[in-house]
Amino acid sequence: MTLSHAILQDKLNRPFQYHDSVDSTNDTAKQWLQSGAPSGAVVLADEQKKGRGRKGRTWYTPPNVALAVSVILKPTPDYLSRINIIGALSVYDLAEHVGCASIGIKWPNDVQINGKKVCGILPEVVWNGDVLEGVILGIGINVRNDFSHTELMHQATTLESEVGHSLNRADLINYLMQRIDYWHDRITSDEVFTTWKARLNMLGKHIVVDGIAGQAIDVDPDCTLRILNDAGQAQQVFAGDVFVVQQAEID
Ligand code: BTN
Repeated sequence: MTLSHAILQDKLNRPFQYHDSVDSTNDTAKQWLQSGAPSGAVVLADEQKKGRGRKGRTWYTPPNVALAVSVILKPTPDYLSRINIIGALSVYDLAEHVGCASIGIKWPNDVQINGKKVCGILPEVVWNGDVLEGVILGIGINVRNDFSHTELMHQATTLESEVGHSLNRADLINYLMQRIDYWHDRITSDEVFTTWKARLNMLGKHIVVDGIAGQAIDVDPDCTLRILNDAGQAQQVFAGDVFVVQQAEID
């Protein structure tokens, strides 16, 4: 079913913007934050023309096949690193809710089903000088994308291909937002960290991350990953690289 403002109005009990097409929902949300959007407001789009992924990569959101969601949140600076976790936990809950099996989180925030990526999460922090204005929690979920004949064929999956039937994207958004509210309400609690840690699928395994090869040993509450590298040395990898720290524009 096509997404529309009217359909979402029935589902979402919060301030939201819906666009048939935008460059990036994260950019639109950032502008809305800077013009006074409240915490919990959300920007949604059917299509993104210049969707952004981690590390400067492009994130494709063609019409009709995916979710592009950017939630405006206003945590205290101490809990910024948990926004990543909240995104991953909420998408994990959604995948479980629709009946997916073999769900796991690949550190720090890739939700995988049967080892394939079903979503991308891009939290972006907006500062005004040294004052935290808020965070944009950008989430892209593959619902029915066609990855055959693309380089992502063996790495990416979709919710519909995993459950074997069609899904209503407005219902998915509604449930996702309920889970984001649930975890955001608990941002200071241990439950956020312990649940995320229990859902990570690479602890104890041999991995390669940011050019470091070794065994994933543990994670810290600030999201840091501890690795015993192949030379036997303990190393830490920080998830901080997922934050694009931006200076808010001051008129
Ligand atoms: C990744 O590279 O894994 C993160 C991808 C994040 C994509 C989402 S889609 C909604 C929001 N708007 C964007 O431009 N990016 C994020």
